[in-house]
Amino acid sequence: MLSRVPLAVTTSGKPEEALVARAREAARQWNLPLIPRRKKEAIARMLESAADAFIVFEREDVSLWDKEGTFSFTPGMAHLRRLRIQSGERDDAFLRVAELRAGDHVLDCTLGLGQDALVASLVVGPRGRVVALEKSLALYAVVSEGLKAYDYGPDSCCVEALHADAHEYLRSLPSGSFDIVFFDPMFEKPKKSQPAFEMLRRFAEHAPLTAETLEQARRVARRWVVVKGAKYSEDLKKLGLEAEPGSHYTSVIWGRMSP
Ligand SMILES: C[S@@+](CC[C@H](N)C(=O)[O-])C[C@H]1O[C@@H](n2cnc3c(N)ncnc32)[C@H](O)[C@@H]1O
Repeated sequence: MLSRVPLAVTTSGKPEEALVARAREAARQWNLPLIPRRKKEAIARMLESAADAFIVFEREDVSLWDKEGTFSFTPGMAHLRRLRIQSGERDDAFLRVAELRAGDHVLDCTLGLGQDALVASLVVGPRGRVVALEKSLALYAVVSEGLKAYDYGPDSCCVEALHADAHEYLRSLPSGSFDIVFFDPMFEKPKKSQPAFEMLRRFAEHAPLTAETLEQARRVARRWVVVKGAKYSEDLKKLGLEAEPGSHYTSVIWGRMSP
């Protein structure tokens, strides 16, 4: 019998051969075990016996399951933000602080649910580039599979998601290789949030952004290093960043540094 593992891949209960092949290939790439699911076997049962969490391949969806809940990629608020931008609105805080424009190359060091990366991919457009890094394998797996299936349309580039640690990846890059380097680290004090964010919180990397990583980002950025933070947290201040002027009605603040 297999010993219990932290994370594994499986499929829907009655998978077609092509789906099993997709799941097998993904498991190989992610270096995770593929645990076959018996017909009608509930994920809840498999979570008792085989793994703490599963990435489940279904015909239309790839989702992450643990004992407390489930999560699959959805463009969510990013879809609304993209619609607003497409209708000519330019009041998105990320866009404003990063001074994002068509053709930019953006390095998003904290992919998470992929929302900011999706907004950036529309603003930089088909001639631009968005590379997005995620340290948590479980989140990377589900969000990168969701982004692969996302319909970007002709006005957008695709998000290139990578399973990587931001500090290590930045160190490997030549100086001045991206216009914008962006961080949206986990907030210091968790506030109550939607179920997708609760799942994000359980699987995310929580280590705070360090001065050393920020220094690497300054070396790599050509225009701005942008950091999203929380009003109630000291995280931005600790990194020597001043909050940019913004709305009084949001708990989010933004800091930026030139190279
Ligand atoms: C608050 S979320 C980002 C949300 C994202 N901006 C969005 O729009 O959905 C932070 C994410 O960054 C990831 N992360 C934290 N530290 C990281 C690091 N050093 N390298 C790569 N990813 C990291 C976490 O695992 C988490 O998924």
